[in-house]
Amino acid sequence: MKIEKFKIEYYDDVLKLWRKAGIEVVSSDTIDEVTRVLNRNPDLFLIGKIKERVMAIAMGAFDGRRGYVHHLAVDPDYQKRGFGKTIMDALIEQFRKMNIHKVHLFIEKSNRNVVEFYNNLGWDVREDLIMMSYVPDKKLYKRHM
Ligand SMILES: CC(C)(COP(=O)(O)OP(=O)(O)OC[C@H]1O[C@@H](n2cnc3c(N)ncnc32)[C@H](O)[C@@H]1OP(=O)(O)O)[C@@H](O)C(=O)NCCC(=O)NCCS
Repeated sequence: MKIEKFKIEYYDDVLKLWRKAGIEVVSSDTIDEVTRVLNRNPDLFLIGKIKERVMAIAMGAFDGRRGYVHHLAVDPDYQKRGFGKTIMDALIEQFRKMNIHKVHLFIEKSNRNVVEFYNNLGWDVREDLIMMSYVPDKKLYKRHM
């Protein structure tokens, strides 16, 4: 699998892959919103391609203090072959190059099986934190696109 920086021309492929992999796409995943993430994080938003087909995606981001990983996905037909680890290793290398001290990610409790995957890669579950969210404009955020 060849790792590349995401370009917006891959948006439709990536959306299909997210859906196929069971990622819940929300109002923050429209082409305009994804473009916004890309423009802010051109070096952290990665795809993995096999024979020109997008098979893996990792949307990395940096808020100026912490790094984040959103919507990691590998095509279900290609899972458990090391591609998830490969794209995460590439993304971590990008975070390292940018001297980012710590990186967070969020896992839906209904998807807790994936914790083991991240544990294998050296990530720790935070028992000391409670995540809270706030929606500043209820017209903008929707749980479905
Ligand atoms: C999570 C995901 C990206 C892993 O991708 P993958 O290509 O299957 O993972 P890899 O093959 O690189 O796995 C690396 C290691 O983790 C293990 N692993 C992978 N998925 C696992 C799972 N769900 N539970 C436990 N271990 C897992 C593999 O067995 C492998 O271990 P090994 O090195 O000892 O053989 C993929 O399962 C996926 O796209 N899931 C659906 C979307 C999702 O849940 N994304 C995460 C959102 S937080």
